Amino acid sequence: MSAPPQTVGVVGAGTMGAGIAQLACLAGARTLLHDPDPAALARGLETIVADLDRGALRGRWSEDDAAAAAERLQPAETLAALAPCELVVEAAPESLALKQKLMGSLSAVVAADCVLATNTSSLLVTAVAAGARAPERVVGMHFFNPAPLMRLVEVVAGVHSGERALALARATAAAMGKHAIDAADGPGFLVNRVNRPFSLEALRLLGERVADHAEIDRICRLGGGFRMGPFELMDLVGVDVGFDVARSFHEQSFGEPRWRPSPLVAKMVAGGLTGRKRGRGFYDYRDGAHRPADPAAPQEPPGAGELEGGLVVVAGDTVLAHELLDLGSAVGFDMRTPAEAEGELPLLILDCGATDEDPPLQGGPQAILLHAGSLAALDPGGTAVGFHALPPLSPGTLVELTRGEDRHGSHDAAAAIAERFFAALGCPVAWVGDAPGLVLGRIVCQLVNEAAFAVAEGVGSAAEVDRGVVHGLNYPRGILAWADEIGLDHVLGVLDALAEEHGGERYRAAPLLRRLVLSDRLGRPTGEGFFGGADGDDEEGFA
Ligand SMILES: NC(=O)c1ccc[n+]([C@@H]2O[C@H](COP(=O)([O-])OP(=O)(O)OC[C@H]3O[C@@H](n4cnc5c(N)ncnc54)[C@H](O)[C@@H]3O)[C@@H](O)[C@H]2O)c1
Repeated sequence: MSAPPQTVGVVGAGTMGAGIAQLACLAGARTLLHDPDPAALARGLETIVADLDRGALRGRWSEDDAAAAAERLQPAETLAALAPCELVVEAAPESLALKQKLMGSLSAVVAADCVLATNTSSLLVTAVAAGARAPERVVGMHFFNPAPLMRLVEVVAGVHSGERALALARATAAAMGKHAIDAADGPGFLVNRVNRPFSLEALRLLGERVADHAEIDRICRLGGGFRMGPFELMDLVGVDVGFDVARSFHEQSFGEPRWRPSPLVAKMVAGGLTGRKRGRGFYDYRDGAHRPADPAAPQEPPGAGELEGGLVVVAGDTVLAHELLDLGSAVGFDMRTPAEAEGELPLLILDCGATDEDPPLQGGPQAILLHAGSLAALDPGGTAVGFHALPPLSPGTLVELTRGEDRHGSHDAAAAIAERFFAALGCPVAWVGDAPGLVLGRIVCQLVNEAAFAVAEGVGSAAEVDRGVVHGLNYPRGILAWADEIGLDHVLGVLDALAEEHGGERYRAAPLLRRLVLSDRLGRPTGEGFFGGADGDDEEGFA
């Protein structure tokens, strides 16, 4: 492994540059910070020193370490002052022409073996490197915001990046205490690419009025464990910034249908609704808190007591079916499979993928798991409600329910009993419009799909995807390990049903995902999926 650099230059003293310079001086390198705007340079230096002091107060490092780091930090008034650097990281504005020019100017002042790294998030590293005198010395070092706190750095290889330059970038990231993952050059590299459907799929759900923005956010938080919902996040990042990223993905891929920007966002940007910074985006921030706190999970559900001991039939051999059998039993329901309950009158039937081998499901109101179609497709003209949740299901996890296009109240009986059953499990519920996978299922299955495309294209391994989304985006769990937990047949079922309902290529399943299912690598149900090779100890997963 390469030794980390002794002298690091950072160009651009804004949000990212200041954070990167702070990391470099804390890691022990003499750090030279440059910005062509003297006021921006002064602000950047001030921010770093204040942050070093704050970190010492909070016990993140000692006062001595903060003082030593501040001592190692120096302003560089000109680019020429960066001559002694072994590594220069540029964090200048996101413009290809500007970054190419910068690479050319830097090539003229630093030593021939100095590595030049770009922190671009949406340009091709290969294109930025084209401005440098020797493009093999240029790599991507993609930090996440806020750089001092987020634990991930993507080390991105452009087509000409040399192994020595990549090794130095990895060593630097390690010295800064970051998880470094390798990612191929391309739209969004690995992590931002895998994350694309989080906002895009949420926007489609909003556009189709499956739920409103606040409900979609709540479902992602309470059903999926995400710290923030997609709309809160878009408002925080800037709706206009997100729109530029979406356009860049679409352009760089020559029109990939999965990455088509949302017309809803175009309209918001045109209307100046760009998020927190302007006081209004999807939410209104002008009067303080933009949303009420999430209510606590139901403790003593209304009327649950009178259901206690009631017979609930669960059909299907899916992960969720088994979890429901266990959870229902734990709170006192008489949970049985269709064969065990034949001839009896159940309180509720939960159809989680009944097969022709099961006895016919009849005699009670039904809720159908929408993992292989919408309610309209799975119960045409019927009286069932649809539901969806993603394993692992536990008390407190939100469950979504739908009555579809119920115009005559014909789903009332099933709706009332299903809502009370889930409340009795301690699960909050959300009523949404009809769709395969409902809200969370649709978003998460598209996230898995995007990750499967990226892995198959060699953008990163399954393990790198999972480390990337956890450390770079604060996901509650690795997205591919989650897919294994859910069951890959469940994920594929949702995608295929969406493809059938919507037509076109937007929901086409990644061939890798389909091949895993065809070869019975279903994840938890069969012990092998994206992870868990034949020896059951495959931590790196599919590469
Ligand atoms: N903000 C994020 O969330 C984030 C995350 C990852 C990567 N990035 C990338 O980091 C880079 C910087 O983004 P930021 O958010 O820190 O921007 P910023 O606007 O906060 O800072 C940019 C700085 O560059 C300076 N600058 C202007 N012209 C320059 C030039 N010719 N040479 C050098 N510096 C110049 C500006 O004075 C400013 O201080 C961009 O490429 C961006 O895509 C940003």
